Amino acid sequence: MWYFFIAAAGLVALLASIYLWTRFRKFVIVQRLSGGNKWLAALLSALPVIVLIIWAKYDPVNAVTAGVHLAFFWMASDALGWVIRQIRAARSVGERDHILNAEDSSGPGKKPDDLQKDPLQEEPLQEAMLQEEMLQKKPLQKQPLQKAMLQEEPLQEEPLQKAMLQEEPLQKELLQEETLQKKPLQKEPLQKAMLQEEPLQKQNAGIQGRAGTHSPALEIQPRRQHIYWQGILALAVTVVYLGIGVYLDYNVWETDYTIFTEKDLGMETLRVVQISDSHLGTTFEGEGFAKHLARIQETKPDLVVLTGDYVDDDSTREDMIRSSQALGEINATYGVYFIFGNHDEGYFHYRDFTGREMVEELEKNGVVVLEDETVQITDRINLIGRKDRSVPERLSAAQLMENLDPSCYNILLDHQPHDFNNEAEAGFDLVLCGHTHGGQMFPVGITGELSGANDKTYGLEQRKDTVFIVNSGISDWAFKFKTATRSEFGVIDIQSAPEKSDKSVKSQ
Ligand SMILES: [Fe+2]
Repeated sequence: MWYFFIAAAGLVALLASIYLWTRFRKFVIVQRLSGGNKWLAALLSALPVIVLIIWAKYDPVNAVTAGVHLAFFWMASDALGWVIRQIRAARSVGERDHILNAEDSSGPGKKPDDLQKDPLQEEPLQEAMLQEEMLQKKPLQKQPLQKAMLQEEPLQEEPLQKAMLQEEPLQKELLQEETLQKKPLQKEPLQKAMLQEEPLQKQNAGIQGRAGTHSPALEIQPRRQHIYWQGILALAVTVVYLGIGVYLDYNVWETDYTIFTEKDLGMETLRVVQISDSHLGTTFEGEGFAKHLARIQETKPDLVVLTGDYVDDDSTREDMIRSSQALGEINATYGVYFIFGNHDEGYFHYRDFTGREMVEELEKNGVVVLEDETVQITDRINLIGRKDRSVPERLSAAQLMENLDPSCYNILLDHQPHDFNNEAEAGFDLVLCGHTHGGQMFPVGITGELSGANDKTYGLEQRKDTVFIVNSGISDWAFKFKTATRSEFGVIDIQSAPEKSDKSVKSQ
């Protein structure tokens, strides 16, 4: 499975790199610095991709994430640019036809005032052609090139006009060079006007001379320097989007829930604080974890539960010890409890402590580790900690409930939100999960539910009489971005309220 994801990510990264490489070449600065040398242009446009590759050597997950997002936004931006060009081209054709039709009906020539108001002024080259035609009063059929351009064929089908309309500076330069080399300019005055700025202006002066008057409408403005706005837009959107993702990942929010139950809790409210998926060493280390716990302490929890992936393969013993000590310092009425996630034992076994050493450190600090075990919080409340789904021999939901009093309020901790129906059928009152990181990044996060890997990605859900809460995690895995959610810890108030049996769930 992992090999499939790695191969798929590698393929996507390769395609994204090729796309970005071709796109960076369109920037004016690359064309200027390369001086028309295509090999130098290729090298310059590859530099951003090379930076991404170097980044990937040290941080492949986030480098690929950034590169793929940039490529995606760039494709969207290019698509937007294409749509705008098509609209502009269609408008130009329509307006040109309108002018020609008006000329046909009102006689030759067009007053300068009319030309001044002509929207085609935004297309100086087309305007020059039309002006020359009108001022010289030559029939269209005597000017093959103009005829070809002014007939009903769409502008985009004319290569020369296409070069003008597509805002492809590099292609235009190449086309200019080729045309100027092959065709004497003096024999193609109109093409020269189309392909060169300065000659066009000179020709315009000639046109004015022939007309015998000076009209602002006949002034050919220098062609604007084409800015590759699609590329700038793609870069800006990527930076802003992923910047927000970093912000949502590194900052931690408190998410509050209030749950009503018909059962007698023996107290007015039980406040449970859920911490999940800290993956120590990702967005904070041991000391950072301790600071978050200090904030959690301010919520005055009755019960603190850690629902898996406390550590990861890259966590250090030093951070694990510091965090465990901080957990030992929490003042919670009924204590601190821990279950395993799929990362706590470690996949690759290169870190400097084992899962068992972590358990020893937690227990040394008073944290209760539950592995398919139950602890009686009060005579009315039970807490059950389930082994992770990755452990084949874990007990079923029904087995975990076998010896429990169904009249008590039974809280289940299960890292992966994957067994909702069985857990609801077994009769748990509340199930707390993590693992999904709230969907992490859009749109990848929704694939968990679509594929059936998870029953829920984030938030609160009720099935039968069981309430499920999936936490987005206080930190992150290898990613440094959360664009589908934000980091959090949950504060869950459970209240006895028999009169609210029809409103057993309420979130704030
Ligand atoms: Fe997990």
